[in-house]
Amino acid sequence: MRFREADAVLTMDTPHSFARASGFHRPQTTDMADILMCPPDYYGIEYEINPWMSTERQTDHNLAVEQWNDLRGILEGLGARVSLMEPVAGLPDLVFTANAAMIYQSAAIISRFRHPQRQGEEQHDATWLASRDFEISYPPDDQNFEGAGDALFCGDTLFAGYRMRSDATGLQKIGARIDCRVIPLELVDPYYYHLDTCFCPLARGVAIYYPGAFDQYGQRVLQELVPKLIPVELDEAREFSCNAVVVGRQVITNSGCPKLHRQVQALGYDAIETPLSEFVKAGGSAKCLTLRLDGEEAAAWRDED
Ligand code: ARG
Repeated sequence: MRFREADAVLTMDTPHSFARASGFHRPQTTDMADILMCPPDYYGIEYEINPWMSTERQTDHNLAVEQWNDLRGILEGLGARVSLMEPVAGLPDLVFTANAAMIYQSAAIISRFRHPQRQGEEQHDATWLASRDFEISYPPDDQNFEGAGDALFCGDTLFAGYRMRSDATGLQKIGARIDCRVIPLELVDPYYYHLDTCFCPLARGVAIYYPGAFDQYGQRVLQELVPKLIPVELDEAREFSCNAVVVGRQVITNSGCPKLHRQVQALGYDAIETPLSEFVKAGGSAKCLTLRLDGEEAAAWRDED
């Protein structure tokens, strides 16, 4: 039976105390969003590990640099603090810092990439996050895990995308470590291979999603658990509209998502678009280029004392 693992989780669903007891403490906080990015000095399409990538369709380096700088400028303009990881030759996807780790309070659970092409990133991610005093840990043995690309908090629940890049068992065990309910969501469309390409929490109980990336079961679970669930249509899903960066009440996406922008504006958000075509060529967009070091806006643990 295909969805047995996820079903088991739902039936075993236990109330959880949000992990004051877990032993993790938040690093010193400010009101500013704290975001990790990595400049695109060595970014390009050097291999093909998702259907968006074709080595025949290269990026325009200068345009990629301009688009990345614009995104950084928008985030800093909103008051975010942007920290930079040193780019490394031969690791073109290091620019997608969402995949460095999953951040929970002062803990960083470092990714273990599915594809060998990205595994060289892991040591750089761990070294950088350790230098910022995060408590470093790793996914359970043999389990692939691609950080915030596949693990997104919405309220007090960790929504976890599996099958393409991260493994369901590892995601469950990571949730158990931090005493957090995990809702595993099977990703069924190879174009939406990370959860952050098809699901974006905005606040507790509010999220954007592309239904076609999930099976019926996943769609039903999301509809049941997220009271305000904003669907995007295929044309805008393809523009990576779900791959949004959320800073307070601002939602930043690739350009080409006017319907989504109207929907989030109706909920009182400001929508900002910025062209990220060069990163779409690698299967990434705004959210993939960032990692919130202080926790996503929608994560209930951000507000815990
Ligand atoms: N080329 C990268 C990969 O396939 C893109 C990663 C995008 N990151 C993300 N969080 N969705 O792994």
